[in-house]
Amino acid sequence: ADRVFFVGGNWKCNGSKSEIKTLVESFNKDAPTTSDVEVVVGAPLPYLEYTRGLLRSDWGVSAQNCWIGKGGAYTGEVTADMLADVGTDWVILGHSERRNLPELKESDATIATKTVYAISKGVSVMYCIGELLEERESGQTIAVCERQLKALGDVIGSDWSKIVIAYEPVWAIGTGKVATPEQAEEVHEAIRKWLAANVSQQVADSTRILYGGSVSPANCDELAKKPNIDGFLVGGASLKPDFVKIVESYK
Ligand code: G3H
Repeated sequence: ADRVFFVGGNWKCNGSKSEIKTLVESFNKDAPTTSDVEVVVGAPLPYLEYTRGLLRSDWGVSAQNCWIGKGGAYTGEVTADMLADVGTDWVILGHSERRNLPELKESDATIATKTVYAISKGVSVMYCIGELLEERESGQTIAVCERQLKALGDVIGSDWSKIVIAYEPVWAIGTGKVATPEQAEEVHEAIRKWLAANVSQQVADSTRILYGGSVSPANCDELAKKPNIDGFLVGGASLKPDFVKIVESYK
């Protein structure tokens, strides 16, 4: 399949203007220029436009959340329209931290609604799914991922061209406990089968499925060899200059 390798960085709630400037300058200088990998960095909202202004033009900028629809009396929220207006190409939606932190607890339906609205405004979506440790241990991994995919499938229709799926087992996020290439590949293959059975073969063949959870320069090459792993969503390691080594795992 001709899926362009994709590497997303998710800075989460980290950074300052001076730290972003130093990091982005190293990315601009050290990373290869090639159409064989698509790279996007996810900055905190106050820094989106600042990051866009500094970052090399062949890399995209992503937000990490947005409101479910158009603007209005929603104090503290930010719309996809606003993201697009300040040059933000992508938004990460359904991240496990937003699904599971007790202060946030976003539902499958909320995340799906946000996704459809963002796409309608031209903002592409990294749609995150993945199981908790207790769900894996009780044999529910695939069922959980399918439930999270179905929430989107129920509302999005047949065009998935502005979506990449990020499979992030929650037990692997920020823990240093990366999924083995075999564990990740098993779920990625199931996701692609779900797309073929429930959306279309064309969408199954063309949709990038990323792995996320403790990806590092040391483990990315083995993961990238798997046929259904089309890239990564990288948290902690995207805050360091050697994120470039993960970008280079497309090779
Ligand atoms: O969105 C990124 C994931 O949550 C992975 O984070 O690479 O720090 O484990 P991590």
